Amino acid sequence: METMKTLLSRRSISKLTSPHPSKDEMEDVYQAALRAPDHSWLRPWKFIEITGDSRNKLAKAFIESTKRLEDLDQERENKIAALPLRSPMIIVVIAKINHEKPNVPRLEQIQSTAAAAQNILLALHDKGYGCYWRTGKYSSERNKYISNELALESNDEVLGYLYVGTPEVDAPKIPELENKDFVTYWN
Ligand SMILES: Cc1cc2nc3c(=O)[nH]c(=O)nc-3n(C[C@H](O)[C@H](O)[C@H](O)COP(=O)(O)O)c2cc1C
Repeated sequence: METMKTLLSRRSISKLTSPHPSKDEMEDVYQAALRAPDHSWLRPWKFIEITGDSRNKLAKAFIESTKRLEDLDQERENKIAALPLRSPMIIVVIAKINHEKPNVPRLEQIQSTAAAAQNILLALHDKGYGCYWRTGKYSSERNKYISNELALESNDEVLGYLYVGTPEVDAPKIPELENKDFVTYWN
């Protein structure tokens, strides 16, 4: 029943502070990620953990990549620079697409990686940490600049940035959803 409690109480928390999970705690969290369902056991997952000053390096990459798409004034540059500092840890979630397996299309490998990301969210929640999955223009396939900065390979796709830390606020109240609005029975 503990599992159900964890599943039902998870919320995305955007206000996150130190401390971030320890190395030992993250060992467990990544083990949970590696239990994602995975067609043909391709293991299409890759996670890059970013903490401390490396977050400023990520900020620089965000800024430089944005400059390649649009003009940036100083105010906006400052705003982008602050983005990776919203939490003490960021996990970049990457799907390493294997194009040589016709029975496991790209979409299935992305689905498996998204399941791994959800396992990370749940494992962190179970350990009392907060997490927020973000994408935006920094994880689109178009953002070759960021891919280069993260030393990704050409078949690697960034599915998102998981912002991780200690919740600074109580879990937000969210509307309760009813199963009947989402489930039908086919006879
Ligand atoms: C693939 C994916 C990408 C997301 N990208 C963003 C994002 O860029 N910015 C944002 O505010 N929320 C984003 N979200 C939504 C939040 O992570 C979160 O799920 C949402 O605020 C709902 O909160 P809940 O998870 O507590 O229901 C994304 C969610 C997913 C699954």
